[in-house]
Amino acid sequence: MNPAQDALSKYIESHRDAHLQELCELLRIPSVSTKSEHKGDIEKAANWVADKLRSVGMSRVEIIPTKLHPLVYAESLAAPGKPTVLFYGHYDVQPAEPLNLWTTPAFEPTVRNGNLFGRGTADDKGQVHIHLAALESLMKATGKLPINIKVLIEGEEEVGSVNLWEYVQENKARLAADALVVSDTSMLAAGVPSVTYGLRGLVYYQVEISGAAQDLHSGVFGGAAPNPLTILCELFAKMHDKNFHVTVPGFYDDVAKLSAAERKSLAKLPFKPKDFLRTVGSPGLAGEKGFSVAEQVWTRPTFELNGIWGGYMGEGSKTVIPAKAYAKFSCRLVPNQNPDKITRQVEKCIRKLLPKTVTCKFEVLSSGKPWVAPFTHPYFEVAHKALAKGFGKRAVFIREGGSIPFVTQMHDTFKVPCILIGFGLPDENAHAPDEHLSLENYFGGIRAMAHFYQGLAEL
Ligand code: BES
Ligand code: MN
Ligand code: MN
Repeated sequence: MNPAQDALSKYIESHRDAHLQELCELLRIPSVSTKSEHKGDIEKAANWVADKLRSVGMSRVEIIPTKLHPLVYAESLAAPGKPTVLFYGHYDVQPAEPLNLWTTPAFEPTVRNGNLFGRGTADDKGQVHIHLAALESLMKATGKLPINIKVLIEGEEEVGSVNLWEYVQENKARLAADALVVSDTSMLAAGVPSVTYGLRGLVYYQVEISGAAQDLHSGVFGGAAPNPLTILCELFAKMHDKNFHVTVPGFYDDVAKLSAAERKSLAKLPFKPKDFLRTVGSPGLAGEKGFSVAEQVWTRPTFELNGIWGGYMGEGSKTVIPAKAYAKFSCRLVPNQNPDKITRQVEKCIRKLLPKTVTCKFEVLSSGKPWVAPFTHPYFEVAHKALAKGFGKRAVFIREGGSIPFVTQMHDTFKVPCILIGFGLPDENAHAPDEHLSLENYFGGIRAMAHFYQGLAEL
């Protein structure tokens, strides 16, 4: 180890507690992006991130308003001749409900059994803080940042990054970099550092089915009047066949066939369907026939019902035929499916299946493309070495089923390597009660990312 590396490692080890306490400050801000009542908390979290970036020594720290929630941007371009990377993450979180299912309150971070519990620990404040702590450590231990770095932390990821595309298109020069670095994904399993080279895309829909002009007495009108709720259930029951194939005509037309080589390399990963089933916690799995579990969740498109409502849902009974029924649903997409084409196919299919007794309002709430990219750039070897430093093991390359709209936007716009290094775990309850982050991965992540940034300077 050279003296600079030695100083860096010492700094990181001696600041474990300080870093963790600082992360807890950020976690206490309930920056839920989907609810307008949290607008003030969103502002607070954006300010917190900006202040931290200033204290790390970044220049040009800016809070950029958008139509919804602000972006935080900062840069440090004081390493001439060295690579420039853009680090992206998000400070917004999912709602914490249902609150009664949390062991300790969602916005009162608590350590139990080597894990830090709280909303945003894994997704994504904890992972963003890994990088902020790594940058701080580099700055304090070595006096400067070894590479040029741009930082973009957004507040709308959990609502589909709705205003980000416009910002990217209008600020290409500012965002241009040699690589994108993101920590908003997962490791394959505990003790298996992972680099993610593929994500699914997502299109999210809402429909409103209208029948009668108003709610009806089900005794007076039932048997003759259409019931939009029943019709909605019948509709969604038709969207899969018995092999769990989506029945929308043309849905699979553009799905790229997995190469034999990729199938083989996915099969070799230490992915354990048994662990997967245990994490799911259901009596069994319901996957598309002919594909392994990893293939199902990483490489196959889906059609999922996310919420369905209408009619009477209060205490006791009410004999009513609801005038309207609603559903939220979404499709995960894989290369080379196109969100707009899928939307046209889905809407056409739904309108065709619905009887003439009802009308349908069809809305797209958000839309993002799938992403898969090669991992041959020399930066990936630097990531390997850094992860080995942080975790004592060589990383594996995985795909994942979640979506991060910015990754595709960045990849499409700049055609640069996107290096996704996740420190979450599949069973850490992201988006659910008792979300947590393993402290081993948090501290290992800080070590690994500090060495990653330093390693890029030594290429
Ligand atoms: N961090 C996740 C995405 C993710 C999760 C990637 C697990 C890989 C593995 C992100 O915050 C997220 O939840 N994204 C949403 C996107 C949507 C709101 C557009 C998703 O995937 O549902
Ligand atoms: Mn996330
Ligand atoms: Mn998320």
